[in-house]
This record gives sequence, structure tokens and C-alpha cells, in this order.
Amino acid sequence: MPVNDDEVLRVAARGDGVTADGRHIAFAAPGDRVTPEGTIVPGRHHQTPPCKHFPECGGCQLQHLDDISWSQFIADRIAGALAAQGLEADIRAPLLSPPNTRRRATLHAERRGRQVRLGFTRQGSHELIDVEECWILAPELFALVAPLRGMLAALIPGTRRINVHLAQTDQGPDVLIDGLEAEGLAAAEALSAFSHRHHLARLSIDEGFGPSARYEPEPVTVTLGGVPVPFPPGNFLQATPEGEVALVAAVQEIAGKAKAVADLFAGLGTFTFAFPRAKVYAAEAARDPVMALKAAAGQAGRAVFAEHRDLFRRPVTAGDLSNFDAVILDPPRAGAREQVAEIAKSAAPLVAYVSCNPSTFARDAEILCKGGYRLDWIRPVGQFRWSTHVELAARFSR
Ligand SMILES: C[S@@+](CC[C@H](N)C(=O)[O-])C[C@H]1O[C@@H](n2cnc3c(N)ncnc32)[C@H](O)[C@@H]1O
Repeated sequence: MPVNDDEVLRVAARGDGVTADGRHIAFAAPGDRVTPEGTIVPGRHHQTPPCKHFPECGGCQLQHLDDISWSQFIADRIAGALAAQGLEADIRAPLLSPPNTRRRATLHAERRGRQVRLGFTRQGSHELIDVEECWILAPELFALVAPLRGMLAALIPGTRRINVHLAQTDQGPDVLIDGLEAEGLAAAEALSAFSHRHHLARLSIDEGFGPSARYEPEPVTVTLGGVPVPFPPGNFLQATPEGEVALVAAVQEIAGKAKAVADLFAGLGTFTFAFPRAKVYAAEAARDPVMALKAAAGQAGRAVFAEHRDLFRRPVTAGDLSNFDAVILDPPRAGAREQVAEIAKSAAPLVAYVSCNPSTFARDAEILCKGGYRLDWIRPVGQFRWSTHVELAARFSR
């Protein structure tokens, strides 16, 4: 089909639409036309953004894209990052999480006179958007936003900004407030009454020395692969249940037959506990999650050896990795250059690489491919709906 110069062909990494004649236009979707004055004439992939806070709120960048063009954006981001390293791959259809499924988020709060603003920061600025609706957060978590505002109005001193971390756990919502000093009987009573009224699983405060639970009627857990794992306040959790299911399915497809699995950057064990019949070595640098994983594995009688280990400074060596049938890694956004260099030298036949950053993933993929691995396929997982964040699971084999 002929393409017009003024037609938007793709969406760039930061979310701008790019026209055939190379103009970057904010909030334009593929198929839109853009007049010389910059007016967008919506095409068939341009949807009406559902949220009243879009585009001011920095939580979402892509609400003007329908799911077809959001999927295409995700696949293009991955293909583009790979191409920059001279790589190609079979990129499968992205698995998208529905609206209102985010089970983990950090909001910010600050006082404005007698009111408290609670929400996300404005796109490209530090200003807070006081969210009145949210199309991303799980309803159980969003239901806490208005009551939290009321409670914080009595507790936030001055103008300092504080962070509110929300997560959905087996017992209900887990709330961690950091930057708040909540001393004295009145504050203790306010926190406890709030927690009780809103059926929180736990409320923790971090006054600068680490989280301490002020309300926790029973131990808080998240169930991973059928195993209840103690959940440290504010810990990492895959962003949506659907995202977790998609990533676990991809990793099981890659490593399902393995008898010995290494799970690197294991966190609480999202992948460790997905292999009930294998022996699993789990390595993780943060102390609280690795202790939680170890305790949960012991309770459940799983054959897991968990190690508290910094894999940037002390990567598992190629020689040790060669004892495993499959290596899983799920590093932070920075990727895992040092660890990947060891995997590339190892004889491990299968690698499942889960990544939340296509650029560092592609850089690391190039190291693996130079070491003799094939990049077989990539499953993109859209668990950060309407954002420019892209998650994926990839299969490498030799
Ligand atoms: C993207 S999370 C994945 C966690 C887990 N695989 C999951 O799915 O729940 C990345 C994990 O890497 C850990 N991490 C960060 N830097 C690390 C390092 N240098 N060595 C080992 N683990 C590290 C973080 O604490 C975090 O648990």
C-alpha cells in the first residue's frame, strides 16, 4: 500500500509517533495523519485515552494506542534493540495484561496546605498528579488511595514528599510508607485504625532505617508455584498476575524438562518455585528475599539451594553453570553483563533470559550469541500497560 509522507508509521522508544517524513509527534498513533501545522488526524489505531489524567500523569505514556499498535510498539522496541547489535529473532505475539491488573506500584504524597496530594509524578517533571482515577492499578489497591490521603493529611509534616508502596499479597493489600515519621500514641492509633478499617494485610513505616511493620495480624506471603513465600515490605513482584503467568509459562517451555536448574537474580522465587520436580540453585543479592525464598523452600520440602550472592561482583562461573541443564536469569534493568560473560563460556544447553529492558537484553544477547548460543525466540510480555516499559522472555540454546 502506498504510504503518505504525513502518515505515522511507528512509535519511537519514548512514545512519540514517527511520520513517514521523519517527524516525531507526541501522542500520535500508527495510521494517524499529521498536518504541516502538527495537528493529528486520528487513524484506526488511535484510541480515545480512557483516563482523565492522561497525558499529564507520568504513569502512562501510550493510552492513545489501541492494543494492536501497542503490541506492535513492544515488538518493534525489541526488534530495534536487537538490530542495533546485529541480531534478529523470532518475536512471538506479545501477551498483554488487561487494564486494572497492576498489583505493585509506588505512589508519592505531599502536603498542599490542609490537603494531601497522592499519585504519580507528572510526565517529565517532579510535580505530583493527585490521581482521582487510575486505569492501571488493581481495584483493591486503588480503593486505598482516597482513604490514604485522609490518613496522611493528619501525619505528613511540612512539605516533604513521601513514598507509598502498594502490593497485593495473599492476605490482602500490603502498604509501605517511606519517609514518614510516625511517632507517638496518636500516630500509632491512626495507623492501626486505618489498617483495620481497610483490611490491610500489613502496614509498614520506613523512617529511614528500613521498614518496620506497625500492623500485621498474620504473616504476609505471596504464593509462587503453589508455595507461600514470606513477602518483605516493598519487595519486587512481577507487575501483574497475568505477566507472571506469561513469564513463568515461557520459562517452563524453555526449561521444563531440566533436572537441574540455576535461577539467577531469583528474588522471592517466581521461577525457582515453577520447577517442583527439578533441583534448583537460586542466587539473589538482596538479603530479605533470599532468606524468604530459603525458608519457604524448606517449609515446602522443595529441593532448592538458595545463595545470598552479588552476581555483578561474583557471577556464577562457567564451570559451575555447566552442571545445569538450564540457566534462568532475570536481572534488573542494568542487565547482567558479567554473569552473561560466564554463561557464554559455559556448556549449559538452555538459557531462559527474562528482561525488563530490551537494550541491555540485546547487549547481553550479543555476548551469548558470540559464545555460540542461538537466540531461538522471544516472548514479549506487556505487563506495563500503556507505558514504554517492555518485558520479555527469550530462549537461547546450544
Ligand atoms: C527483575 S527482579 C527479578 C526477581 C525474580 N526473578 C522474580 O521474578 O520475582 C531482579 C532481581 O535481581 C536482584 N539483583 C539486583 N542486582 C543483583 C546482583 N548484583 N546480584 C544478584 N541479584 C541482584 C534484585 O534484588 C531482584 O530481586
